[in-house]
Amino acid sequence: MGFQEVFGALPEASARAPGRVNLLGEHTDYQEGYVLPTPIPYFTQVEAGRAEGRVEAYSETLGELRARPLASPAQGDFLDYLLGVVWALREAGHPVPGARFYVRSQVPLGAGLSSSAALEVAALKALRALYRLPLSDLEVALLAQRAEVAYVGVRCGIMDQMAASLGEVGQALFLDTRTLEHENLPLPQGTRVAVLDLGLSRRLAEGGYNQRRQEAEEAARRLGVRSLREVADLCLVESLPSPLDRRARHIVSENLRVLRGVEALRKGDAGGFGALMTQSHRSLAQDYEVSLPELDALVEAALEAGALGAKLTGAGFGGAVVALVAEALWEDFQRTLRDRFPGLRLL
Ligand code: GLA
Repeated sequence: MGFQEVFGALPEASARAPGRVNLLGEHTDYQEGYVLPTPIPYFTQVEAGRAEGRVEAYSETLGELRARPLASPAQGDFLDYLLGVVWALREAGHPVPGARFYVRSQVPLGAGLSSSAALEVAALKALRALYRLPLSDLEVALLAQRAEVAYVGVRCGIMDQMAASLGEVGQALFLDTRTLEHENLPLPQGTRVAVLDLGLSRRLAEGGYNQRRQEAEEAARRLGVRSLREVADLCLVESLPSPLDRRARHIVSENLRVLRGVEALRKGDAGGFGALMTQSHRSLAQDYEVSLPELDALVEAALEAGALGAKLTGAGFGGAVVALVAEALWEDFQRTLRDRFPGLRLL
């Protein structure tokens, strides 16, 4: 199948965007903090053509063709993301009359690898080319987030869309989510980023995510700051009632870990960087309470198999684990983990 078979015409534009893992800076982006994601070499490819008054799309992964008029509300299917980006563009004043899309994705769905951000960003970049829209990659990321929050209805931060739009494979995207200043930094030489996916369901993710956001907002309010990014002194969080003290401690310490991680990357210190990833996981498990026993077991197994560091990636409550592994150990690492977890998908 292809665009032409589905729509009877050739595509007029195409673009692609990758999925991501987050190396450090988890649950900080909705409190104006620092993040450090890296794209994975798995892409969503979108081909686009013109249409009037509606959005049509074929998903090769799902084998589904969907079409709805521009003003339709979200319905909970993949077309929402595409209607959402067209809606966000029109709302921002860009003259987009509609579109048809053919979507091919290598990014695993539902694994916490940001397949939705990859789809939004790829679609926006295809529309940018199709309708010659004067948009920077940064504006693409912001429009993608707007589509997801205001149209699809998921209250995400900006990390995933920034990684999909501005990230480069093999580099970590150091992003200050308060100013949107960003820099791509090379990953340590002689290492590999491994993604370990047990296919854990993320059913509880949305409710848990929104609850953590509220707790973080409440902690900031009680500390009298605009966001927890303002808090540099870890002692301050001790005055908060439980569990807000632990939630705030995670966010404040996680921001420090990102800054230390950036220093480690600048020095090429793979061991130091890996240790920060593992500390991040422990903080996410104990203070932020977004891990699962299966994710903890996967992190421990990755460390036992020789990883320099490992942590859950993304919102938690399921999803995947990311590990930093020395290139020289890669074959052994893979074998050990596959033997131990037969259903494991290793990217
Ligand atoms: C999800 C959200 C991101 C971020 C992470 C947690 O992936 O989409 O914005 O908040 O969770 O770090």
